Amino acid sequence: MSDHRPGPYGGLVPLELTSLIVDDQDEAIAFFVDVLDFDLVEDEPSTTTDGRPKRWVVVRPPDGGAGLLLAAADGDRQVAAVGDQYAGRVGLFLRVDDFDAAHERLTAAGVEIVRPARDEPYGRVLVFTDIAGNRWDLLGPGQVGDGEEDGSPAAEPTTPAAGGPLLVRRERPDDVAAVRAIHAAAFERGDGEPPEAGLVDALRLDGWLPALSWVAERDGVVVGHNICSRGRVGDTPCVGLGPIGVAPGEQGGGVGSALMLAMIGAADATGEPLIALLGDPAYYRRFGFVASTEVGIEPPDARWGHYFQVRTLAAWVPAIRGRFHYAAPFDDV
Ligand SMILES: CC(C)(COP(=O)(O)OP(=O)(O)OC[C@H]1O[C@@H](n2cnc3c(N)ncnc32)[C@H](O)[C@@H]1OP(=O)(O)O)[C@@H](O)C(=O)NCCC(=O)NCCS
Repeated sequence: MSDHRPGPYGGLVPLELTSLIVDDQDEAIAFFVDVLDFDLVEDEPSTTTDGRPKRWVVVRPPDGGAGLLLAAADGDRQVAAVGDQYAGRVGLFLRVDDFDAAHERLTAAGVEIVRPARDEPYGRVLVFTDIAGNRWDLLGPGQVGDGEEDGSPAAEPTTPAAGGPLLVRRERPDDVAAVRAIHAAAFERGDGEPPEAGLVDALRLDGWLPALSWVAERDGVVVGHNICSRGRVGDTPCVGLGPIGVAPGEQGGGVGSALMLAMIGAADATGEPLIALLGDPAYYRRFGFVASTEVGIEPPDARWGHYFQVRTLAAWVPAIRGRFHYAAPFDDV
């Protein structure tokens, strides 16, 4: 914190309170007190500006900083804003000294973690949702050697996380939430949940090829995922690959390559003729992908040009020609 600057208000000017609109104040108190360990500092009867009774409830983090006014939604507009006060982006930031302890506490309480823990220049961070559905950053110190705890930039912010061996295996039903979080983080553009996260869920219901949908995990934590679905060229069933996403803190460390190689091998072993994807040729050519038109296959959208690529497998024959069609959920993206 910089030295205090004398200002026009005659002293320190703390941000006192910010409002959080909630459906149920008792549930909200329980969340902030029991799960986040905030203090309940006020819970008093009060009145609205037009004289109706209400309850004035304030919780405050243990450091005594800015408090949260837990305001019961009043009227249609406020009801609609519950959980959407920040239009889908992270709106609140909680810094802790012991990140792992806080992480465990959230997990034990069943709090939804929408982006897994990762290391950034400013520290370790994960994104969780509060009782109303608003997104919070949980921030902790960077890992030893990753920069200073005062927030100065880390020397190598993109260095993949160190840890145990990387395991690649088929997706299981209990991976669904972690997989969604991986794609939400990998494709994050700063404007709400990216469509890739929802596409994965939609594909599981329509066109999914579970034998070719893989996760990469390290130390029991899912760090990457790819999904494959049933596409076709004319009447010939083929594989559509995507999305594929890797946790930001693990990108550039071979996770994507491990998934690609495992998935390509499995597709070849199970007699699939080809895999198609939309992506950057600079990445995918290393796995043998070529522009689809080189083997007589038209992209679903002609504007995709050489970004639409295919990898032919042992069962491929040149007669497989024509336009590629993805599984139906891609039509909605
Ligand atoms: C693309 C992605 C899956 C690759 O996985 P990864 O684990 O980061 O990649 P790997 O470690 O296996 O490979 C790293 C190499 O790929 C390159 N690479 C990574 N993403 C790339 C991209 N989008 N375009 C071109 N090259 C890329 C890196 O520069 C690096 O190149 P090098 O080996 O020459 O140094 C991952 O970076 C990711 O999730 N990105 C965000 C989401 C995304 O773009 N998904 C793909 C949409 S088609």
